Amino acid sequence: MKVSDRTHGVEYAIRDIIAYARKYQASGKEIIYLNIGDPVRFDFKTPDHIKRALVDAVMHEENYYTDSEGLPELRQAIMEKESEKGFNVRVEDIIVTNGVSEGLDMTMASIVDPGAEILMPGPYYPPYASYAKFYGGKPVEFKLHEDGRPNIEDLQSKITPRSRALCIISPNNPTGEVFDQKSLQQLIDIATEHDLYVICDEIYDKIVFDSHFTGIGKVAKDAPVILLNGFSKSYLMTGWRCGYICLNSSSTKLEGLREDIPKLARVRIAANLPVQIAAVQALRGSQAHISTMVEKLIRRRDYVVKRLNAMGIQCKVPRGAFYIFPQINTKGRWKDDQHFVIDLLNNTGVLTVHGSGFGSTYGSGHFRIVYLPPEEMLEKAMDKLERFVNTKL
Ligand SMILES: Cc1ncc(COP(=O)(O)O)c(C=O)c1O
Repeated sequence: MKVSDRTHGVEYAIRDIIAYARKYQASGKEIIYLNIGDPVRFDFKTPDHIKRALVDAVMHEENYYTDSEGLPELRQAIMEKESEKGFNVRVEDIIVTNGVSEGLDMTMASIVDPGAEILMPGPYYPPYASYAKFYGGKPVEFKLHEDGRPNIEDLQSKITPRSRALCIISPNNPTGEVFDQKSLQQLIDIATEHDLYVICDEIYDKIVFDSHFTGIGKVAKDAPVILLNGFSKSYLMTGWRCGYICLNSSSTKLEGLREDIPKLARVRIAANLPVQIAAVQALRGSQAHISTMVEKLIRRRDYVVKRLNAMGIQCKVPRGAFYIFPQINTKGRWKDDQHFVIDLLNNTGVLTVHGSGFGSTYGSGHFRIVYLPPEEMLEKAMDKLERFVNTKL
């Protein structure tokens, strides 16, 4: 039977690699999962007040379809959160989605035509390229400087009449880089000059370590910015699937999206109501778990950086999120970074993700480690990696 051509370009290395892990596990051996960025799988648990709000909502019969754009109380709380970060957004410009993933899908569906080019910093979080391709567009990677700032000359050289949007993911997955205010301003200026949409993903806005986080709202002015954010990471609600889209209310260039994104929201009926009620509590209730989480992550990041450096594996110190993206010299030992990751898995049970899954141009020759696990597990993983590297390199 014929299947659609458009699904061919869809890839998600982070989960695609699990097929290899299943094979390994079938032989009865233990796997250390350092591939998926889900804190709730480790010792970061959904705060009790958020869980209670979900249970109460279900028990109080809040189990029906709600407004397609989202629960009014939640849209109000989101408006307050994003306004505090400097983004000008009215409640009418907020759409609640089943995770940032659905928000990204709706955004790409609304702006990508066949042939449209979507600029993204390399390496990038894979769904940005997958959704762009799914809708017939072409992902175009631009370079970052060694220190993580966007390379503006490289970006400018890649802008063509087909360029439609510029993506910003800060803090970034897979590198943990955080763009400073000057870089964000430069990106906004370029987008304004070339009439590009700016899709900005701030899902890790609260998971920032030594540097200060600047939201896109601080520099957006009236640029056509589509801000994506959600509850999975900072509020430890990964399995519940809740996120949102905010359209810059100061922009007059987003009128088309103001019409079209709500249409997509209506056709899928609504996001999960009890989860939205809990999300109101997440934003309005205690935020204490966030600083505890960040402190733990700094310790784990520092431990992994120290161990990698001691092994002679080059890596940049991540400044946010919970990923590290070390370089691996595959020459003469492995065909490429994917072969390295599979060989590491088969020899040690340590599951990471190949860098080329985050973009072939700038991701190749790297692998991504999730440093969410407790120190004992990280120590075990690093010991195994060290032994593996010493025997192979
Ligand atoms: C940059 C980025 N955006 C979005 C997501 C997915 O978010 P959600 O769980 O809200 O769909 C992730 C998950 O790893 C991510 O790293």
